[in-house]
Amino acid sequence: MCGIIAYFGNRKAVPVLIDGLKKLEYRGYDSAGICLLNEGVPAEQGLLYVAKVKGRVSELEKIIPSSEVSKIGIAHTRWATHGEPSEVNAHPHFDCKKEIAVVHNGIIENYGALKEILENEGHKFASKTDSEVVSHLIEKFYQGNLEEAVVKALKLVEGTFGLAIMCKGEKKIVVARRGSPIVLGIGENENIIASDAVAVLPYTKKVIYLKDNEMVVLTENNYSIKNFNGQEVEKIIDEIKWSASEIEKKGYKHFMLKEIFEQPNAIENTLRGRIDNDSKIKLTVDIDLKSIKRVIIVACGTSWHSALIGKYLIEKIAKISVEVDYASEFRYRNPIIGAGDLLMVISQSGETADVLAALREGKNKGAKTLGIINVVGSTVAREVDSGIYLHAGPEIGVASTKAFSCQVTALLLFAIFFAQHKGEKVDKELISEIAFLPGKVDEVLHESDKILEIAKKFKDAQDFIYLGRGINFPVALEGALKLKEISYIHAEGYPAAEMKHGPIALIDEKMPVLFLATKDNTYSKILSNMEEVRARGGQVIAVVNEAGNDINNLTKNVIVVPKCREEITPIINTIPLQLLAYHIANLKGIDVDKPKNLAKSVTVE
Ligand code: F6R
Repeated sequence: MCGIIAYFGNRKAVPVLIDGLKKLEYRGYDSAGICLLNEGVPAEQGLLYVAKVKGRVSELEKIIPSSEVSKIGIAHTRWATHGEPSEVNAHPHFDCKKEIAVVHNGIIENYGALKEILENEGHKFASKTDSEVVSHLIEKFYQGNLEEAVVKALKLVEGTFGLAIMCKGEKKIVVARRGSPIVLGIGENENIIASDAVAVLPYTKKVIYLKDNEMVVLTENNYSIKNFNGQEVEKIIDEIKWSASEIEKKGYKHFMLKEIFEQPNAIENTLRGRIDNDSKIKLTVDIDLKSIKRVIIVACGTSWHSALIGKYLIEKIAKISVEVDYASEFRYRNPIIGAGDLLMVISQSGETADVLAALREGKNKGAKTLGIINVVGSTVAREVDSGIYLHAGPEIGVASTKAFSCQVTALLLFAIFFAQHKGEKVDKELISEIAFLPGKVDEVLHESDKILEIAKKFKDAQDFIYLGRGINFPVALEGALKLKEISYIHAEGYPAAEMKHGPIALIDEKMPVLFLATKDNTYSKILSNMEEVRARGGQVIAVVNEAGNDINNLTKNVIVVPKCREEITPIINTIPLQLLAYHIANLKGIDVDKPKNLAKSVTVE
């Protein structure tokens, strides 16, 4: 969470920093701040210009005078952890003399102890944040060389950080990473540092991803990368594959809507080149799958829902036992895992702190690790033994949409790939039907206006229940999560048969109940569950792939999706739920791309 950006180059820093912060706002948007090293005076006298606001980057932009022409600066957009969102808690943070400026992403876990020591030594703190201890620690060690002081300070810091630091009197920016992503963009006579490549993409495609315990020092037309012992580190320059236009809204009102509508294309990209003419799945998985006795999948949030679908797919198709765990729980229950296990981690961003911790736990205990990741070069991508990239393109909307459908597509491919490696027979019809998936998703998107009409009827509901069975139970969970995170309507997902074991007590005429009722062997049972809801006055919304009288007699709120094999239904059925959540939230006037309290990349535990 939190976005940091730093610029040292030949153009005015303010537009670069503000534009970068806007691109990083998905990481947090409760307050923002900027610090510039003023030029036009000798470096030794260089002054710091500072502006901070509670609220969005657009508010910060308004208060910076156009007379600020500095070409060196750092900036931050915040997702509060320690200390409420406020101007004083916004970054940058300073030392006592206001000469050292720090922006920070991560959590300083021992900040309490450090603060006490520093206060006893006379340091006065302005904010309630953990981050401020870093600026005071640097002040403590500063003897005319910022880089040296930073290294000394970081030796005492426990926790995670992506840091950008400047100080009055030195024409440089020092950046350091441990556990929070940092990318260096290398331009022509300019260098840009950010928490995510999206912020450097308008200026350069040449990037270097920092590893933990590495730092960059930016100086005039130059950069150097070192470890925390001061030794230079050789780094590979990567090329970003995404284009700058992919991170624009392209006429859509919100990124989320654009990303929902991009799904046919995104899924096509996940599939590209991965099914050969003999119906063999081609994935570059460098793991001996024949030695794998059990699969464990860990993930968070929406990615955890795709993990649950992955369990159904891998068990059904590859016939191997699969366990699914929340990444955040996995590490703390001392899991039994080791040789013979495959630990799969699913993460759109590849930076989720809980996922990384679970991955490291599994690796340390001897499991093979496989990542399903969207962001190329992310920490998960670099730490797994082998990976499957989604190629879904950048996902900017805080609510995950296209990453989910591409994750499930990748899991389907992997389940078949695994089966083929084990010599299990896989139905060729299933493989040929996968090719029609993008077209079928496109058909569902054509239902958007009908879904909007249903959204109008239910936008004022206080609660929602989503029900599905089997492989569509996780879809019910995902539909409920999408609705609650962007519309703030309380929503729960259940396996349909569980309703009578408790949630049925909630049903009355005010309660909409959405059923995933595409035809499979539980269809007749789902119809009975609908009758039970109707009998108690509840309002039914049904997602079906065959609209017969049985359904039409129960409800007018029917969303018809194309027919497909059961293994593919989770992808098809999720699309109307994304659209329903989007339309409801949009009708309520919520900023769908930046719902309250959330951030896209959850880099704190
Ligand atoms: C929900 C959502 C989150 C993420 C979760 C994991 O719409 O986006 O629940 O799915 O924070 O993020 P990744 O997949 O980046 O590890």
